Amino acid sequence: MANASTTPTRDPEALPLPPGPDELPVIGSTFDLMRRPIEFVDRVAEYGDVVTYRVAGQRFTAVLHPDRIERVLVSESDRFRRWAGEEWGDTFAGYGSEGLLLTEGEQWRRQRLLIQNAFTPARIESYTDAMVAETERTIEEWDDGETIELTDETSKLTLRILTRALFDLDLEERRTVVRRAADALNARANARSLSAFLPSWVPTPTNRRLHRAMDDLETLLEALIAERRADASDGDDLLSLLLAVETDDGSTLSEREVRDQLITFLFAGHETTALALTYALHALGHHTDTRRRLSEEIASVTGGDPPSVSDLGDLTHTERVVKETLRLYPPAYAIFRQATETTEIGGYRIPDGSKLTLPQIRVHRDRRFYPDPEAFRPERWTEAFEDSLPEYAYFPFGGGPRHCIGMRFAMIELELVLPTVLSAVTVDPVGGPDLAFETGITLQPADPMDAVVHER
Ligand code: HEM
Repeated sequence: MANASTTPTRDPEALPLPPGPDELPVIGSTFDLMRRPIEFVDRVAEYGDVVTYRVAGQRFTAVLHPDRIERVLVSESDRFRRWAGEEWGDTFAGYGSEGLLLTEGEQWRRQRLLIQNAFTPARIESYTDAMVAETERTIEEWDDGETIELTDETSKLTLRILTRALFDLDLEERRTVVRRAADALNARANARSLSAFLPSWVPTPTNRRLHRAMDDLETLLEALIAERRADASDGDDLLSLLLAVETDDGSTLSEREVRDQLITFLFAGHETTALALTYALHALGHHTDTRRRLSEEIASVTGGDPPSVSDLGDLTHTERVVKETLRLYPPAYAIFRQATETTEIGGYRIPDGSKLTLPQIRVHRDRRFYPDPEAFRPERWTEAFEDSLPEYAYFPFGGGPRHCIGMRFAMIELELVLPTVLSAVTVDPVGGPDLAFETGITLQPADPMDAVVHER
C-alpha cells in the first residue's frame, strides 16, 4: 500500500511548471549577478516560493518556503538525491566521491551508521579540551596590536582542532597541502569562474591547479593512513575507527573509502566552522555593545578560567551570537538536490531530474519570519521566538537523514572558541560592516578580512 504521507496529492504530470524569469537579463549577465548571491536570490524570489531560473544552460528550481523545504529534506527525502554539479563536470571533480558527503544509497547508510559513533555526545565532550587548547595556542601566536587575516587564522585554528580531535593527527607542517586543496576546490566551484561550468578534465588553469593540489593531498593522506595502519596501538579517534571497523558481514572499508572520508571531513569540518568564526568576529567587531555584553557573560560564567563543556548551558548569549551568525552568514549558503521522479511542490510540477536549490542565504533573511532581517541581533533568539519560527525557516546544518553529521561538534566548537578568544583579546575589523561574498562551495568573503588584535 502506498504511504499516504509521502504521496503527492495531485497527479504531478497535470500541473504547471513553476514560474520564474526565463533568463535573468538584469544588470549585465547572470554571471555578474552570481557575484551578489543575496541579490540574485532576492530577484528570483519575486516570482514566489517555488521558482525556476536558468544559469549557464541549466534550469534550477529554488524552493523558498520552510514547509516545502521540509518536504524536500525530510518527509519526502527519498524523492530527492544530493546534487553535486554532475552535469557541469562534477563540482568536486571526482575527489572524495567515496566519502560520506557524496555517497548515496546503501553505501552512504553503512558509512553514516559507522561514522556516527565518532559523534555521540560523550565522544564530542572528549574533544572539547582540544578545542580550547588549540584556541589558546593560536591566540598565543598573535602579537598585541598585530593585524591578522581572519579567514586564514580561523582556518588554521579549526583545522588544528579537527585533525587533533577527530584523527589524532598533527598536520601542522603539512597544513598548506590541505589549505591549497580547499582553496583550489573553492576556486573551481566559484560561480564567477568559467571552470565551474566545465568538466574537470578541461585543462583550464583552475582545473590544473585543482588536480595538482588534490593529488598532493591524496598522497599525504595515503601516507598517514599507512602510518596509522602500521601503528599497533588502538586509538579511539575517527581514523582508527574507520580502519578497525568490521560490519556484520565481515567487510571493512576499502582503502579508497578511508582516504575519501579523510578528504570529506578535512573539508566539510574545517572551512565551514572557520567561516562561522570569521563572520562572528566580524559582526561582534561592528556591534561593540553586543561584544561587551558577551564578554560580561563569559566573565561571570567562567570566572576567568577557560570555558568548559559544563559552562555551555549558562552561556546563553554566546549561543545566540552563534545562531545569529549562522542565520545571516550561513557558511553552507544553499543545499542542492535533484528529483529522482516527477513530483509536486507548491502546486507545481517538478520533473524527474530537476535540480533544486534550497538557499539558506535567502530563507534566513526572509522578513516573513525575521523582523529586521538584515540586522545582526542575537537577542532575537529568545525561546518564544524559536517556538514561533517555522522549523525550516532556519537550517544552517540542513535537515533530514543527510543533515550535517558534525552539527553538534560545530556548535560546541563555536561556543567554546568564541569565549576563549574574547576573554583573551579584542578583535577589531579593519574594513566596514558590509560584506561582499563569493559563492564557492561555501560562502566566502570576497575581500580580505583584516582585523587588529589587542590583548585584554
Ligand atoms: C558551522 C559549521 C558547519 C555548517 C554550517 C555545516 C553545514 C552542513 C550542511 C548544510 C550539510 C548538509 C548538506 C546537504 O544536505 O546537502 C552538511 C553535511 C555534512 N557536514 Fe557539515 N557543517 C558544519 C560543520 C561540520 C563539521 C564540524 C563536520 C565534521 C566534523 C561536518 C561534516 C559534514 C558531513 C560529513 C556532511 C555530510 C553528511 C551526510 O551526507 O551524511 N560539518 N554540513
